[in-house]
Amino acid sequence: MGATDPPPVTDRMSAPKRPLVGVTRRLPEPVEAALRERFEVRGPDTQRALDSGELLALLKECDALLPTVTDRLDAAVIGAAGPRCRLFANFGVGVNHIDLAAATNAGIIVTNTPDVLTDDTADLAMALMLATLRRLGEGERAVRAGRWDGWHPTQFLGRRLTGKTLGIVGLGRIGRAVAKRAEGGFGMKVLAWSRSKRRGSEAGTRIERVSKLDQLLEASDIVSIHCPLVPTTRHLIGRPQFARMKADAVLINTARGPVVDEAALVEALETEMIAGAGLDVYEDEPRVHPGLVGRENVVLLPHLGSATQEGRVAMGLRALDNLVAHFAGQEPPDKVN
Ligand code: DGY
Repeated sequence: MGATDPPPVTDRMSAPKRPLVGVTRRLPEPVEAALRERFEVRGPDTQRALDSGELLALLKECDALLPTVTDRLDAAVIGAAGPRCRLFANFGVGVNHIDLAAATNAGIIVTNTPDVLTDDTADLAMALMLATLRRLGEGERAVRAGRWDGWHPTQFLGRRLTGKTLGIVGLGRIGRAVAKRAEGGFGMKVLAWSRSKRRGSEAGTRIERVSKLDQLLEASDIVSIHCPLVPTTRHLIGRPQFARMKADAVLINTARGPVVDEAALVEALETEMIAGAGLDVYEDEPRVHPGLVGRENVVLLPHLGSATQEGRVAMGLRALDNLVAHFAGQEPPDKVN
């Protein structure tokens, strides 16, 4: 083709280029299909998490990134990413793995997926309460190992959940959904503490807000964590807090591992400062403190809070809504920075 020839017809008529979205993990099939309908998608063909070099390479070449909780988007990665990517449409509600200040400074919008995983996470918190108090893991392990020799009246006696006092740390969407289940389904008394300074009862519920965390710790049979991980909630529950709890109380964590000082938790269990724990999250996932693994009075789950088929599809579609709004020139509905 000579220098003065017009470009080929196919080039002149081609559709406008679609934005390139980098996806860091395999997602439920309906989500991947919906993403491909709207965008060019670049993503992994394995189930493992990207290492930091792979994450940075993806970040450099895409117009928006759809990361998950396993992608560490810290100031160094964001600083090295270059100018192209302008949106992190996170797949999940927690954004503690993203340095929000660095993203904001770099002109990157961060969004999350609230609401769509509230019920699933609240259900899982109730499941952990039941599993811990009623010794479900211990019983299950005995049956599978052939150690069950039949029913008898004093076997695996747990404790009743119904009617107990539940202390909720962090009264956001998920904390409220847990309170609703605990009150309405299990006749529990519900206390709540959060960083905002409110106290008294919550309108339309029987939740009693306390002004000091210690009040909640001293009065609760079950303490359930539902606050986000931010600098002020890191190790919010440590040795002094375990010392305030009742000796027969249990701790439930479906929020973020580092809210609890895991070494202090192990010590509290070993010294019978508290009676048990039900955990879905850990300080250094996927590593689990060795002092937890061998304990019968601890229930350990692999970060399953939002892990339902319905929830994970809804999370993906919610991230897609944010991407679509952003590339249509609108403010994404779930902007967090
Ligand atoms: C969330 O939504 O934050 C879940 O923990 C999964 O990331």
